[in-house]
Order: sequence, then C-alpha cells, then structure tokens
Amino acid sequence: MDFMEVISKRRAIRKYKKDPIPDEKLEKLFQALRLAPSGNNRQPYKFIFVKDENTRHEIVRRACHQDFLYDAPVLMVACCEPGRAFDTAIAVDHMVLAATNEGLGTCWVGWFERDAVREILEIDSKMEIPILVPIGYADQRPEEKPRKPIEELVKVI
Ligand SMILES: Cc1cc2nc3c(=O)[nH]c(=O)nc-3n(C[C@H](O)[C@H](O)[C@H](O)COP(=O)(O)O)c2cc1C
Repeated sequence: MDFMEVISKRRAIRKYKKDPIPDEKLEKLFQALRLAPSGNNRQPYKFIFVKDENTRHEIVRRACHQDFLYDAPVLMVACCEPGRAFDTAIAVDHMVLAATNEGLGTCWVGWFERDAVREILEIDSKMEIPILVPIGYADQRPEEKPRKPIEELVKVI
C-alpha cells in the first residue's frame, strides 16, 4: 500500500474476529517497533505481546473493562522507562501503521488500570505502562472520523 493510503486507512477498531495472526505478520510488527527512532537511540521500552487467552482475558476483565478487547487475538502492552512515553508512542505508531499495511486492525487503549496490568504481567515497578494495543482482523469498517482542517493545525511561516 502507498504510505499515505496506510495512514488514511487506519481506524480505531473496536470489533475483532478471533482468527489468529500469522507469525510472519507479527514478525513485521516487531521489526516496525525495532526500527523506530528514540532519543539518543536509547530504546527505553519493552513490548509484551500477549497471545495467551487466559492472560489476555484476565487483563481485560481486571484492568480494561472495555469488552471489545476480549476478541482480539493479541494484546500488546507497551512498557517504558519513566518519562519515556513520547519515545514509546513513536514506536507504537510505527507498529500500528505496519499492522494497517498487513491488513490488521488495532486500537490505541490508554484508559486502563495500570496496577492491575502490572500485577498480572509482573512488570517491574520502575517501568511505566503508557498504552495497550489490541491487534487482530477487523470485524467492522468504521467511517473516517472528522479531523480539524489543516489551517487549524499547521502554520507555515
Ligand atoms: C493515546 C490514545 C488513547 C486512546 N484510548 C482509547 C481507549 O482507552 N479506548 C478506546 O476505545 N479508544 C481509545 N483511543 C482511540 C481514539 O478514540 C481514536 O483513535 C479516535 O477517536 C480517532 O478515531 P480513529 O483512530 O478511528 O481515527 C485512544 C487513542 C489514543 C491516540
């Protein structure tokens, strides 16, 4: 897909098929994370791809309370050093766009209980957990959401 097409086709997907994701596709998502830039090339993050159904469901039940997350076959949990959520968001966006290019749906999920995720996955208390991303085949085709006009977002001087 043309890169601008990838960007414009991405949607927040809130309905997933249960079909598993082939390992070759997951491998591309790992590479997209790996190739992202970060301050001083520090790569101050770790990404946990939760495929195990019991663990995923426990996370959704105890930490997320957003039922659409149950069906996605993978739940990616981003962890980072304190204050490094900015670098992490860049890597996660690389991954999200790579997923779109692979025909996979995703949704950024920032509303969840960090302590519960930390306990379930035994994440070090020094790491932050900025974002979760379900990944799977979309079972819906959401309309494009409205965006502000370019003139409101961009100033060229
Ligand atoms: C940082 C961040 C956190 C978000 N958290 C949630 C969330 O907890 N639950 C949810 O359903 N969507 C969440 N979203 C998805 C947004 O609602 C969605 O991206 C936005 O409405 C634009 O729609 P689009 O992604 O389809 O273009 C989040 C998005 C971002 C970028």
